[in-house]
Amino acid sequence: MELENCNPIGFFDTGVGGLSVLRESIKLMPNENYIYFGDSKNAPYGSRPVEEVKELTFNAIDFLLQKGAKAIVLACNTATSVVAKDLRDKYKDIPIIGIEPALKPAVEMRSNGRVVIMATRVTLFEGKFSDLIKKYDDESEIVRLPCPGLVEFIEKGILTGEKLNKFLVDKFKEIGPEKIGTIVLGCTHYPFVKNEIQKVVGDHVNIIDGSLGTSRELQRKLEEYNIVNPNKDEGYVKIFNSLESDEIVELSHRLIK
Ligand code: DGL
Repeated sequence: MELENCNPIGFFDTGVGGLSVLRESIKLMPNENYIYFGDSKNAPYGSRPVEEVKELTFNAIDFLLQKGAKAIVLACNTATSVVAKDLRDKYKDIPIIGIEPALKPAVEMRSNGRVVIMATRVTLFEGKFSDLIKKYDDESEIVRLPCPGLVEFIEKGILTGEKLNKFLVDKFKEIGPEKIGTIVLGCTHYPFVKNEIQKVVGDHVNIIDGSLGTSRELQRKLEEYNIVNPNKDEGYVKIFNSLESDEIVELSHRLIK
């Protein structure tokens, strides 16, 4: 039992985005061990057919389980929205924690203006998000904002600068920043450009994401399954990426700092 509890928690994302969730989990549970797999070679998944997203995600989770993961975090809204249920059906004995756009807290903020959900097309239109939206759409005006092209900036390590700024300015022209009350970052890549988004929409807009909520859910699940790491020392973090390049591993370590 002791050995299992020292086993790492496996994090998965299509690329470097899930590191925004891992970063929060490390802060919350620094004594746990972590392994992270980013599938940057096949990213982005967000505009792929659902069947491809499923197949790629299953392969990635198998990789993490072979490395001894005691729990899985799908640090990816896209994968969670279309694969979480199938994974839980297949791997019944291990906790699988997903992430979904933080719509409930956004609506509960009751800020003046629209609630804008930035996410991939798969998350916004293919997955279970439509059910979530139905629950809240009479409380707030909810706007889906698919952002194809944004993940690519973050995968290249471009987190500031003119090109990114132009992309975001164009994106928000469609909605009009003055009409926005709250933005939900519904893709785990986007928190890395939160400051740039804030600059474009203005300080009156709240910007939230689900990384802390997901880390807390992970903590609860470790307790429920009785697999909390008893060690008090700082744990290890190992990063794997399908690109197998030094640059992507370097970028990954930079992003969790
Ligand atoms: N980071 C992923 C998410 O949270 C998606 C990125 C992609 O399209 O691959 O949805």
